[in-house]
Amino acid sequence: MFEQNKNSIEAAKSFDTNCPLNKFRDEFEFPEVPEECQEKDVLYFAGHSLGLMPKRVRTVMADELDAWGKYGVEGHFMGKKPWLPYHENITESFSRLVGGKTTEVVAMNSLTVNLHLMLTSFYRPTKNKYKILIENNTFPSDQYAVDSQARFHGYNPEEAVVELKPREGEMTVRQEDLLAQIDELGDELALVMLGNCNYLSGQCFDMEAITNKGHEHGAMVGFNLAHGAGNLLLDLHKWNVDFAVWCSYKYLNSGPGGMAGAFVHEKHHNDPTIPRYEGWWGNNKSNRFEMKRRFDPIASVEAWQLSNPPIFQLASLRASMEIFDEATMPAIRKKGDHLTSYLEWLLTENCGSFVKVQTPAFREDKQVRGSMLSIKMTKDPKQLVESFKNKGVICDFREPDILRISPAPLYNSYEDVYRLVQIIKEFS
Ligand SMILES: Cc1ncc(COP(=O)(O)O)c(C=O)c1O
Repeated sequence: MFEQNKNSIEAAKSFDTNCPLNKFRDEFEFPEVPEECQEKDVLYFAGHSLGLMPKRVRTVMADELDAWGKYGVEGHFMGKKPWLPYHENITESFSRLVGGKTTEVVAMNSLTVNLHLMLTSFYRPTKNKYKILIENNTFPSDQYAVDSQARFHGYNPEEAVVELKPREGEMTVRQEDLLAQIDELGDELALVMLGNCNYLSGQCFDMEAITNKGHEHGAMVGFNLAHGAGNLLLDLHKWNVDFAVWCSYKYLNSGPGGMAGAFVHEKHHNDPTIPRYEGWWGNNKSNRFEMKRRFDPIASVEAWQLSNPPIFQLASLRASMEIFDEATMPAIRKKGDHLTSYLEWLLTENCGSFVKVQTPAFREDKQVRGSMLSIKMTKDPKQLVESFKNKGVICDFREPDILRISPAPLYNSYEDVYRLVQIIKEFS
């Protein structure tokens, strides 16, 4: 994919100079390097875990502190951005981000909470249709959520929760196996609940094909976009996905414990047979403060809201989403593909068999990965991880031998990637 002469710091710098997103690097604060570190700059590759802080967060947070100080409770109605409708400041950005209508997306709660809220509505098992399909190596919180929902409905998770496994010796699941498993579960399948991008392998699934296949069998289909939102191009409404949830502290850079998002397809909004946990923030806005005895749902995904949201978390998310709107997802994905492929190519060129990339190879015709490479180390990786500390590298190691590296297109440079590979090369 790259010519041999691209294996140099000059080539990396020249990619940076010509990159239309390069200017966004300056929008972020980079962590300081520890004192014992030999380098002066940090190499941050943990955007799949916690994204860097956009500098403009300081301004929006200060605005809300000022509003609180100046207006007290009146801040709900006064100030630059009144708090009462504050979450609506995120709606259009989220709609562009995941390809949902503005009535289908909302910023609320945190990820696992939203997952439970969605499972409450969309996992409605019956005697013969009660199985949930998940990935076998999905994030533990997702496993716990579906297990506990199955138990809540009186099923044994050992039987009700079916785990999709890669073939022997493979780290990623083949699409044909996934679809075949849905067929095999057939009428027993109540819910397909997958991450659209696996947190460990970085594999992305064909969400539209999975949704269609699940629907063929009358199952609901939902996705956890924790590693997809702000990373992949998404078109949830068009793909007819029933529901989705995501967090915003990874690729979306909204800060630790940042607000999560939820998508509910509009076809479900006004269906009175769908059960839902209710709270006053989901009540019709025109009469919410009349404090009526009975719940009158907003005719959109907002009906799933429970509480008035934390304004400071929403403020940092708003600042971050502004950057996404300016940069645009297609440009972010385009750079992400090129930068991630550059990383992979440099690793292959420089580090030989020491590293084995587990994430699927880039494809022009299909999104099979985003901006994270999952790498298996063939030598003891602990020494390498230890040396990263002295070199200012921040990425993420998973026992026993997996390194996850995310070159985030908004703030990582080609030079960052080149320098990282030189450090790994010293160990190969
Ligand atoms: C795929 C996935 N699911 C769930 C979670 C848990 O998120 P939270 O603590 O925000 O509920 C994470 C967090 O990293 C995740 O990556």
